[in-house]
Amino acid sequence: MPKKTIIYQMNDLDDKIKQHEIAEYIKAGKLVIFPTETVYGLGGNALDPNASKAIYEAKGRPSDNPLIIHIANPDDIYKYAKNIPLDATILMDAFWPGPITFILEKQDIVPYTTTGGLHTVAIRMPDHESALKLIKLSETPIAAPSANTSGKPSSTTFKHVLDDFDGKVDAIIDGGDTTIGLESTVIDLTGDPAILRPGAITKSMIERILGKRILDLSDSRPSGEVRSPGMKYTHYKPKGNVTLINGLESHVKNFIADYHIMNPKRKIAVICADEYEHLFKGHKCRPLGSINDSSMMSRTLFKALRDMDEWKIDEVFIYYKETDELGYAMMNRMLKASGYSVLDL
Ligand code: TXA
Ligand code: MG
Repeated sequence: MPKKTIIYQMNDLDDKIKQHEIAEYIKAGKLVIFPTETVYGLGGNALDPNASKAIYEAKGRPSDNPLIIHIANPDDIYKYAKNIPLDATILMDAFWPGPITFILEKQDIVPYTTTGGLHTVAIRMPDHESALKLIKLSETPIAAPSANTSGKPSSTTFKHVLDDFDGKVDAIIDGGDTTIGLESTVIDLTGDPAILRPGAITKSMIERILGKRILDLSDSRPSGEVRSPGMKYTHYKPKGNVTLINGLESHVKNFIADYHIMNPKRKIAVICADEYEHLFKGHKCRPLGSINDSSMMSRTLFKALRDMDEWKIDEVFIYYKETDELGYAMMNRMLKASGYSVLDL
């Protein structure tokens, strides 16, 4: 049964009546989509198993893929995690609030429905005023996966959220476009620190703060070792086929031109940096921003992937080579979107 989804603005969180209304949804086990600095989150009371179940259902997400718990006060980490290593407190002091999530041993109070049956829990304090207000007003931590239908690119605009969830959640807080555009870095701190998902807080930033090298396990392909349940599911995929293309500009240009001639009925599009748009004249192209501006490109990537569906594209080609660590985080999403299909030209 579709429900009536109520839309709120961020300043409604400062209005006495409306802030009460919004917090009541969370307290009653209902779902509220809210903006964070990374992507929108599909939020529910993290301590209420029924709320977690409702999140999995609304998202169409397999229930063994655990949720991140969002807190508004760093010290709350001790309420929901135990045996917290020194590395966690150092990273928390350095990067919270911010786009980094810690995997730690869970306290009993955190239901297994929220952690997908795991003894560990993912915790993050977002760097977004509305997200923090919502958590404080709700007087409970908020479990929130990225607010996208399972398998689709994460939502970085209010429109993405409406497209996926209008009629499926109780409320949405419109926060405009998110600033980072890629989900948080996920780091497992239950053993030797290991990055499970790269993000805007990069490996070298973490290593500099900890003063030691850390592992990067984010690159495990579908057949490889899976430390994070999220790694084994298809992600970020538009409806069309996605292929990453690598090679000299002239080769890539000719390849697209030839592909079009050989497959006249298939609608094709290329996602690339602004600097390469000229290679694909006469074809649909979705520039992400300048090759020298990874922040802009990251902010745009999920929008671009969603545009492929709006444009009804059958074959999506991504022409990109990472130039820095944020580019590496972007490449992680591009590889997943393509199902690791890479063509060297
Ligand atoms: O930026 C973000 O992290 C956004 C915003 C809303 O905060 N949230 C987000 O959540 O991206 P989600 O559920 O889409 O991604 C969480 C990732 C998944 O890959 C999940 O498998 C992993 O974190 N994860 C969660 N709990 C885990 C755990 N206990 N052990 C290992 N991986 C875990
Ligand atoms: Mg997600």
